Amino acid sequence: MKIDFQETTDDLAKRIDIHSRFGSKDIDAWMLDVLNLQPGIKILDVGCGSGKQCFSFFHHLNGNAEITGTDVSESLLADAREKNKAIDNAVDFRNLDFNQKFDLPSDHFDLISACFAIYYAQDIPFTLGEMHRVLKPGGRLFTTGPMPSNKQIFYDIIREATGKPIPPMPGSSRYASAIYYTMQDLFSNTEQHIFENPLTFESVEPFMVYTRASMSEDRRLWNSLFETHDEFETVMNQIESVAQKRLEADGSLVMTKVVGGFIATK
Ligand SMILES: C[S@@+](CC[C@H](N)C(=O)[O-])C[C@H]1O[C@@H](n2cnc3c(N)ncnc32)[C@H](O)[C@@H]1O
Repeated sequence: MKIDFQETTDDLAKRIDIHSRFGSKDIDAWMLDVLNLQPGIKILDVGCGSGKQCFSFFHHLNGNAEITGTDVSESLLADAREKNKAIDNAVDFRNLDFNQKFDLPSDHFDLISACFAIYYAQDIPFTLGEMHRVLKPGGRLFTTGPMPSNKQIFYDIIREATGKPIPPMPGSSRYASAIYYTMQDLFSNTEQHIFENPLTFESVEPFMVYTRASMSEDRRLWNSLFETHDEFETVMNQIESVAQKRLEADGSLVMTKVVGGFIATK
């Protein structure tokens, strides 16, 4: 499956901001709890974006780790490098396209993280194979992605507003199935941890900020619902009116993020 990736720094930042303002749970705290990291380890973060997880690992380990952050987007890497200045450039940010052979040695890392990124890979066995190769024996791969019940209300509202089926999403359509099964095939042990974060909206505005950022970021995936800018705006108006009705009926809109944290050991 070929997936066009259309992330923009701005859309990603908007979604992260909505999560932190309207959710009550901290996904980084959950990740660190699940991973139980030991000082001195070598970490590779794949699809690091602007470095959110890299900085979280760095602070949690009080700088006692060798952290490499990688992404294919130069604009997100520039953002990460800007933030990296505050910690004396302690994280090594590099360009790496996970659809190509990794320019990294075999049996090298203790931990690889790929948060909300693995499902953008064109060839999952290839990318997971490269991750397996560069991990030390006994090293762990940690991935996060959406479980099938993720953001139920978001998809329900879009379905009701447009009367059309939801197109297959790269994450939710295969993360907990095809991707997990491939991890089970390649690694000696795999386990699943679940993170749930209800985002509670008392008005439609933040829900619409999230919806706009999410659907415009992935606009190519949604082209059965809109193609032009005007069609996008029409769909947004339809969504807003359904969301408003639901909010009036229920008093709030609760969109629950359901994330799977998969740990695979080499
Ligand atoms: C949803 S963002 C997650 C970023 C970060 N891990 C976080 O949680 O904030 C997905 C990331 O995957 C990256 N990505 C997409 N395709 C990629 C590829 N072929 N190689 C490397 N990174 C890729 C994007 O540039 C983006 O930074």
